[in-house]
Amino acid sequence: MSTVALVPAAGRGERLGFGMPKAFVPVRGTALLAHAVRGLLDAGCVRHVVVAAPPADLAATTALLKAAGLPAMVVAGGADRTASVGLALRHALQVIPDTRVVLVHDAARAFTPTSVIQAVVAAVEAGARAVIPVLPMADTVKQVDAEGTVLTTPDRACLRVVQTPQGFDAATLAEAYALADSATDDAGLVEKLGIAVTTVPGHPYAMKVTTPFDLAIAEAVLAAQEG
Ligand code: CTP
Ligand code: MG
Repeated sequence: MSTVALVPAAGRGERLGFGMPKAFVPVRGTALLAHAVRGLLDAGCVRHVVVAAPPADLAATTALLKAAGLPAMVVAGGADRTASVGLALRHALQVIPDTRVVLVHDAARAFTPTSVIQAVVAAVEAGARAVIPVLPMADTVKQVDAEGTVLTTPDRACLRVVQTPQGFDAATLAEAYALADSATDDAGLVEKLGIAVTTVPGHPYAMKVTTPFDLAIAEAVLAAQEG
C-alpha cells in the first residue's frame, strides 16, 4: 500500500510576477518546486510524487527535479488547479495501482514542516477519508455584497485558514474528482459528496507563496529552517 503525493505546480505565478512559473522561482538558490518535493520525501511517509507541471515546461521540470536528485513523475497540468490535480491523480492511479493514501500539496507551500505532512498521513491511515491542515483566523472576516457593504461578521472562533497537504483515502479522492466539478481546494470536492472532512493543526510555515511579500517571508522561513 502506497502513499502518493500529487503536487500541482502548473500555475503561471502571475501574482508573484517573476515572468516564469512560480514552481521555478528560486528561494535561496533552489526552485520552490524542489523545496516542496524535498519536504514531501523527507517526511518519510510518502512513497511516490507526481508533479503536474506547466505543459510547455515538462522537460524543464523533469530536468530541475533530476538535477536536485529528487525522484518524481512529471505530467502535464491543466487549465486550472482542479484540472492539474485531476490529471496527476489519473496518472497516479494508473501507474501505482496499490495507492492507498493520496496527498495533494501545492508546490507553492514549499516550506511545510514534515510534522504537518506526517500528521495528515497518520490521520488518513487511522481511518479518516479526508484530512486538511488548518490554522485559526488571526483577522476578523466580513462577508460583503458586490458594492463592498458588509452583510455579516461570521464568528471567527468557527473559522479556519486551510493549508496543504490535504490527505485522502484514494477511493474517496477518485470519487470526488469523478464529479467533474470545481472547488478552490480538494477537500471542497469531497464535501460535495457529503463526506466528513477532518482537520489537524497546520503551521505558519505552510503558508502559500503567492505575492512578492510572501516570497520575502519564505526566504526568512527557509533561513530559520536551515538554521
Ligand atoms: N496550479 C496548477 N495548475 C494550474 C493553476 C495552478 O497546478 N492551472 C497550482 C500552482 O502551480 C500552485 C497551486 O496550484 O502550486 C496554487 O495555485 P496559485 O497559488 O494560484 O499559483 P499560480 O496559479 O501559479 O499563481 P497565480 O494565480 O498568481 O498565477
Ligand atoms: Mg492561480
